[in-house]
Amino acid sequence: MEINERIKYIGVEDRTTDLFEGQYPVPDGITYNSYFIDGEKTAVMDTVAEGFEEIWLENLKKASGGRAPDYLIVQHMEPDHSSGITALMETFPETVIVSNAKSFPMMKQFFGEDYPDRRIAVGDGDSLDLGSCRLEFITAPMVHWPEVTLAYDSTDGVLFSADAFGRFGISEQDGEWDGEAARYYFGIVGKFGSQVKKLLDRVAGLNVTAICPLHGPVLKKDIGHYTGLYGKWASYQPENDGIFIAYTSVYGNTKKAAELFGKSLEEKGRMVISADLSRCDMSQAVSNAFRCGTLVLATTTYNGDIFPPMREFISALKERGFRNRRAAFIENGTWAPRSAKVMEEMLSGCPGMEFARTKVTLMSALTDASEEAAEALAQELCGAPGGEN
Ligand code: FEO
Repeated sequence: MEINERIKYIGVEDRTTDLFEGQYPVPDGITYNSYFIDGEKTAVMDTVAEGFEEIWLENLKKASGGRAPDYLIVQHMEPDHSSGITALMETFPETVIVSNAKSFPMMKQFFGEDYPDRRIAVGDGDSLDLGSCRLEFITAPMVHWPEVTLAYDSTDGVLFSADAFGRFGISEQDGEWDGEAARYYFGIVGKFGSQVKKLLDRVAGLNVTAICPLHGPVLKKDIGHYTGLYGKWASYQPENDGIFIAYTSVYGNTKKAAELFGKSLEEKGRMVISADLSRCDMSQAVSNAFRCGTLVLATTTYNGDIFPPMREFISALKERGFRNRRAAFIENGTWAPRSAKVMEEMLSGCPGMEFARTKVTLMSALTDASEEAAEALAQELCGAPGGEN
């Protein structure tokens, strides 16, 4: 696939991995993107995951016509992109690695070699002249590893964005980007919002015509859509005013309450997403919580605490800097319900949270009184945040 007359896609598709990074389900697969740049001098942008080296080297040879690349540019040392370094350096003994100085110790740690005689260390503002185009390097520490270094082809406005703007899935359809890109972002990069914002500020000063990430499709149209979403995500602002109901249920009674509550909200015209935390993909639940303006948590008291998947979920949100949301609680307990208190305490350290005044308590199962409380909470959430109705 040609990105432009100088840049060709040489990445691979992984349709076999079930859990990316050991925790994120990828039912639609994932791509490990790599690019060949022919600017008279030639460069390869990053490599691929273990097991895909052979097909990737074939792609490279087709794109390059068999020429040895002058440079291998390593934007990021995580093994889903760096596992082909050894194969390329052995296949092409003349190739020189260009990367952040912090990458080389990691290279030695992962692969036992750091190529002291075949490397160029680059930092922020450095550039690499390929002849008919020039790459400018932009360091992006902690987006989402410390050594991340993007490259911008200032001749054609092509941004090689490392993991930023990456997406799970193999489909090329840009229209399917938002959901799986959000799940990727909040799962993997979300903790580092301030660092992503710094990067976006840099990118805003460039004339970007295409974004080439390390996962998912090359983004060529409507660049503002992608940078706009990233801006919202990085600043922890909700993407919509939907209500995400995340629940757990031991015998089905908390689930019934969550469903009744969701139905009432929908009847009031609100967009509702619900998930059973014991069964859903946790990374999808995390993404939903960050994208929606309101979070409703419903769970049982369990061992004097809360049901374990709910604890895991709230911890996952906190680890990623969850903030600036309205939250409400539905608790269930047969003899000493206290899960609302525990959940609120867990979220109270998150900045900018607003907690609903109405709490819903079930003693084992729904009653007229708890249904009325749920209705009161639904009415409260359908008012403006901080409002009285
Ligand atoms: Fe896709 Fe951070 O590796």
